[in-house]
Amino acid sequence: MRDHATESRVKPEVEAFFDEDTNTISYVVKDPESNACAVIDSVLDIDYAAGRITYDHANRMIDYIRSNDLKLEWIIETHAHADHLSAAPYIQQELGGKIGIGENIKIVQEVFGKIFNEGTEWKRDGSEFDALFKDGDTYRIGSMEVTTLHTPGHTPACMTHVVGDAAFVGDTLFMPDGGSARADFPGGDAGQLYDSIQRILALPDDTRLFMCHDYGPNGRDIQWETTVAEEKEHNIHVGKGKTREEFIRFRTERDAQLAMPRLIIPSIQVNMKAGKLPEPDDSGTRMLKVPLNKL
Ligand SMILES: [Fe+2]
Repeated sequence: MRDHATESRVKPEVEAFFDEDTNTISYVVKDPESNACAVIDSVLDIDYAAGRITYDHANRMIDYIRSNDLKLEWIIETHAHADHLSAAPYIQQELGGKIGIGENIKIVQEVFGKIFNEGTEWKRDGSEFDALFKDGDTYRIGSMEVTTLHTPGHTPACMTHVVGDAAFVGDTLFMPDGGSARADFPGGDAGQLYDSIQRILALPDDTRLFMCHDYGPNGRDIQWETTVAEEKEHNIHVGKGKTREEFIRFRTERDAQLAMPRLIIPSIQVNMKAGKLPEPDDSGTRMLKVPLNKL
């Protein structure tokens, strides 16, 4: 039997936009009581081999927001993604809204600021973002209140955004048959990831969970929505009460075998600055860096 608190939770309207190139799911989250909405985890298209940026995926979301007369209030990043570029600045330029991420983006900036040799003049204080969230912070989308949960492990800045009966988990969880995301990026931690997942699984059983990625394991169609109850019962990495120790052992062994994501180098250097592309150099061209190993 569901309790009263569960029954009375607001049910945000969620529209998903799947990006085939990076297997990312972006969302428009709408307040049922007003025309206010938020964008979560947008994607900027890049043909990395050609050095070519396009806006097809972001334009699909922008067209949807405009054609439904919605007012964009927030552009949320669940974390600094390593597998796609964020379209947040482009969407903000087109529609307004504030760009928000977890405050531990400062840790990501510190670590990758060194790797990309960004120089001491770059402050690494998260100031490229309009809002930095701490655990338990709240913000509004129209009449809805969103609560942010700090759910580190995949990265130190990962936040889960809980609004009514919906939670946007970023890469903290995958669909039950996908398990969980890797925890071996700088600042990642398998034990922390397990603890973060437990916080999500402590939400009411019928909470709708929205994934940031899906890879269609075993040839099934792409899916992005499940529930806490489904994850608790069926998640192949944490379901049916798997222990923290089992998870850490499995996750660490698995991560050691994974190759770097195809777009990690352009993604991190752009996303750690809220999706802002490098300024044009004296030739008028924007250049990305590729740090090589020491030779
Ligand atoms: Fe990620």
